[in-house]
Amino acid sequence: MLDENGTAVAPHGPGDVWFDRTAHMNHYGTKLPFGCVGATGIVQRFVELDGPRAGRSLDVLDASGGYASACLGAGSPVVVPALTRAVEESGYVTDEIASLERARLLKRLFGAGGLWAGRFPAADYHVTGRNSGSEGMELALRLALESRFDRRDLRAAKGREGRDVVLAFEGAWHGWTGGLLPLLNRRHYRIGLPAVAAEPFGFTTEHIPFGEAETAREYFARNGHRVLAVVIEPVQGDAGILIPPPGYLREMARLCRESGALLVADEVLTFAKTGEFFGMTDEEGPIPTDITVLGKSLGMGVLSTSMVVARRSLTVRESGAVATSDLRPITCAVMGAGIEHVHAEGLLERSRTLGEQLGTLLRRDLVDQFPTLYREARGVGVMHGVELTEAAAAHIGAFRERMIRSGVYVEFMAGAGRRSHGLRYVFPTMRVAPPLVVTAAEVESIVERLVDGSRAFRKESL
Ligand SMILES: Cc1ncc(COP(=O)(O)O)c(C=O)c1O
Repeated sequence: MLDENGTAVAPHGPGDVWFDRTAHMNHYGTKLPFGCVGATGIVQRFVELDGPRAGRSLDVLDASGGYASACLGAGSPVVVPALTRAVEESGYVTDEIASLERARLLKRLFGAGGLWAGRFPAADYHVTGRNSGSEGMELALRLALESRFDRRDLRAAKGREGRDVVLAFEGAWHGWTGGLLPLLNRRHYRIGLPAVAAEPFGFTTEHIPFGEAETAREYFARNGHRVLAVVIEPVQGDAGILIPPPGYLREMARLCRESGALLVADEVLTFAKTGEFFGMTDEEGPIPTDITVLGKSLGMGVLSTSMVVARRSLTVRESGAVATSDLRPITCAVMGAGIEHVHAEGLLERSRTLGEQLGTLLRRDLVDQFPTLYREARGVGVMHGVELTEAAAAHIGAFRERMIRSGVYVEFMAGAGRRSHGLRYVFPTMRVAPPLVVTAAEVESIVERLVDGSRAFRKESL
């Protein structure tokens, strides 16, 4: 609702329906006192909902991309026509029928000469789609579990009998759905929720610290024969944007290959954010995986979707992975147009340079200037984290509101918390992950606003 000057006005009387938030389940404990009335590019128009400022509007630079999912920002001139065309022309057949949109997309990505064919040649990999990152990860786990037994007589597959461990990492985040919870090592994510199924064909999870190659080697030397699969985020997101040292991911791939374990890459968050389409990349090129799950940015900010790319030998029992929305024509049209645009415009290459600029500014203007608030800045591409100090972490709610009032939208991640092997505690971390379309000038404005917000927060709360 805008007044004659284009300023958003929020009615907030008790009888008013607009921005009445009572019906929406509160997942957070507290509610941010803002509503969004519209957005263009990376600028979101917010309105204050409560308190003395209610009704005031503010333009906020989006340094989050909707939980890091809107790589092309709002109202993308690429996504809008693709979506419109697909709705008008492409139909809605399910995965049983070979749609033109799906055929086009998969050929462009995985067919001969395709964008991702070097990494995932169609002769070796097959692909399916799910609705969300969590669902994609559930299917990845399912593919790994089903690889252990012969589906015809439901007996253990020869040589896979003893493999009952899924190895995950301290601080990992893969989604909130039941099957994934055992992969998370933090109490808050597990206690009182479904645990791993018992025998037969049960599995256990074990956790090692992320990024410690020597620990991984020692673990595999002792337990490699028991490991069914390793589930890894190429850059740990919820743990606070933890980037592994060079060579670590390739070493994990080697350990898996040599011990007969499957390597599952959770690229739900990292997809198109690290300066590459895939985080499982190093100076040698693609790091081979058995299963890769892509999500978030894959839906270009307008659809919730994910893709599971698995070796052809990995399948589930007959009709065991049927999903109403497996690579529907509209989804494929949006993905295809978005990916093509990212590729043609060189947005990934650009994000590497912008990422360096962003990282430098975050270190120089935040970490160095506000040592009572920030501990460390880490990041690559459009995926950065600024870890809070213990003192600042105690006030995340106020911190976040202050940042929004200073004109920048950021999210906070849990941080890895306590880790084994003497590694230090990782505190909650502010995620600075603007959409890929962010410009150099916007990067500067984001950091300027973070500086303003930090100054005000320090004065008000610490
Ligand atoms: C690494 C990772 N995996 C999986 C998920 C779950 O994805 P979704 O929220 O789409 O279910 C997330 C979401 O934050 C994530 O960051």
